[in-house]
Amino acid sequence: MTNTKRILTGDRPTGKMHLGHYVGSLQNRVKLQDEYETFIMVADVQALTDNYDNPKKIQDNILETTMDNLASGVDPKKATFFIQSQIPEIAELTVFFMNLVTHNQVLRNPTVKTEIAQKKFGESVPFGFVAYPVSQAADILVLRAGLVPVGNDQAPMIELASEISDRFNKTYKTNIFPKVEGYYSEAGRLIGTDGNAKMSKSLGNAILLSDSEEEVIAKVKKMYTDPNRIRPTDPGKVEGNPVFIYHDLFNPDKNEVEDLKQRYLVGKVGDVEVKDKLSKAINLYLDPIRERRKLYETNPQMVIDILKEGTQKVRQEAKLTLKMVREAMGINYF
Ligand code: TRP
Repeated sequence: MTNTKRILTGDRPTGKMHLGHYVGSLQNRVKLQDEYETFIMVADVQALTDNYDNPKKIQDNILETTMDNLASGVDPKKATFFIQSQIPEIAELTVFFMNLVTHNQVLRNPTVKTEIAQKKFGESVPFGFVAYPVSQAADILVLRAGLVPVGNDQAPMIELASEISDRFNKTYKTNIFPKVEGYYSEAGRLIGTDGNAKMSKSLGNAILLSDSEEEVIAKVKKMYTDPNRIRPTDPGKVEGNPVFIYHDLFNPDKNEVEDLKQRYLVGKVGDVEVKDKLSKAINLYLDPIRERRKLYETNPQMVIDILKEGTQKVRQEAKLTLKMVREAMGINYF
């Protein structure tokens, strides 16, 4: 461990993870786990904020989400995995943090606003949903973590966590909480197979990390390309074209990609060849992930043990943080 800063990040266990998660965050976790003490949280409490009436869905996805991390190469010997709902100190810290945030600050959060619009809550947005960024600050700070590898849609949450950390330290004249920073991927957000700005399972435009070779081939076949190009002999657009964005990210054969682009621009290649080469590249990219997944899929008890041990370890750390918090706030009466 070359760094004193800690990493905390997490995922809502609402479904299988996809290439967008891999490019946006999972890849960075793998890269950083050697340098930083790393904690990966299964955010089941946060997932309940918009699934409170369907806890079974969340429960069913706890192992899946953990396995997606393990399959991606997050090493259980290096990183500590835990389940949010099993750390009551997070809930406690959330309550203390709520006083350090204004009502307006919470309502202004652009990611929360977008999510509210997408989720069609209508007039019935759960209060817990609007407040989840405060709870997310508690996720991070209960471990006194300072670095958070996440997709860039999470930037407003990181900013809030950083403000809360600062405000707590200033208000209670302490320095228990570190500065909080996000760690974002250079690639930014991954476009969906349908050309939508965001890959998302609920939009049906995602290639899952657990997809089989055949599923990848079928999804790539249906991919959106240049809508103005009708025949393979028409000159096409490469820029902003999802198949080429994916080629750039997932095809390591840069000469092949360059050749396809050149021929596409002048109408000398069909979509079939471009897509065929793309599904091959994506399948090769996913192979090591599939390989690692097999071990855990056939031994789910291993995943349960990883979560159980990690949760016990985090509980100890969380207790220590809350002891310091209570001392700083002067509410350690007995
Ligand atoms: N909000 C995050 C997401 O939707 C998940 C999450 C919950 C998280 N708690 C966290 C991410 C703490 C980083 C740190 O992807």
